[in-house]
Amino acid sequence: MLVAGSELLQRAVREGNAVGSFNTYNLEITRAIVAAAEACQAPLMLAVGSGALHYGGFGVLSALVLAAAHEARVPVAVHLDHSPDVETVRHCVAAGFTSLMIDGSTLPLAENIALTRAAVQAAPGLAVEGELGGVAGDEEASGAQHTDVPMTDPGQAQAFVRETGVASLAVAIGNAHGFYKGEPRLDFERLAAVRAAVPVPLVLHGASGIPDADLRRAIALGVRKINVNTETRYALFTALQASLREGVPGYDVTRLFGPAMAAMQASVEQKLRVFREGA
Ligand code: G3H
Ligand code: ZN
Repeated sequence: MLVAGSELLQRAVREGNAVGSFNTYNLEITRAIVAAAEACQAPLMLAVGSGALHYGGFGVLSALVLAAAHEARVPVAVHLDHSPDVETVRHCVAAGFTSLMIDGSTLPLAENIALTRAAVQAAPGLAVEGELGGVAGDEEASGAQHTDVPMTDPGQAQAFVRETGVASLAVAIGNAHGFYKGEPRLDFERLAAVRAAVPVPLVLHGASGIPDADLRRAIALGVRKINVNTETRYALFTALQASLREGVPGYDVTRLFGPAMAAMQASVEQKLRVFREGA
């Protein structure tokens, strides 16, 4: 069933674990993510970014994802991921999204605060996530990472949350979008300091490639929502490539995508188990 993002955040706070937020772009990914949620009996967020909305068409993709959430046998929130503007937030609120992220992390602090506050005002009663500091790399494609992005400053985080009214805060502690070039090095001291400075749940982006032990440690230090995208896409591509190599008789669409959906489901289930166990 479709639920408010705030309900899933509060549940994670109560249970001391993290809700998973998994990006989708199309029917197959959406169905695989929901199947994983149902198999694990774990609530989650179906996340849709601007690139996905552009690719799928706003009306078609949002209707598809909302329908999948409604039909799910576990609580599912529909989340706008990394919106660069308030207009997209407004469209998603009108469409029925139940969780939203505004990403002003590349802007100077004052502009990030102004943009984020405007997004919060555009989504009355809904949980809006803001980001402070920068999560390196491209949300939509793996492999173009930069390491020279600023990390979240605890003092600024306190002011940011107070002045914007966000329901959750995405932190930059060495995490990056896409697979990591080397071993990811998360700054757990910084995470603890941010946690102590702000009253809202923390969000960890760029979970693909972060070892389970580090994810558990982040949960122990107050992370209550974790975003995963690349690992799901990797499962999709790997399984599709194998299917195409082996050949699919009769141009059978279900036999082409079936193994890929199973692979994505397995990947999401593995993450859900880690997130649910918490620390
Ligand atoms: O917002 C989406 C996430 O931060 C996903 O990051 O592709 O590294 O898993 P990832
Ligand atoms: Zn992200």
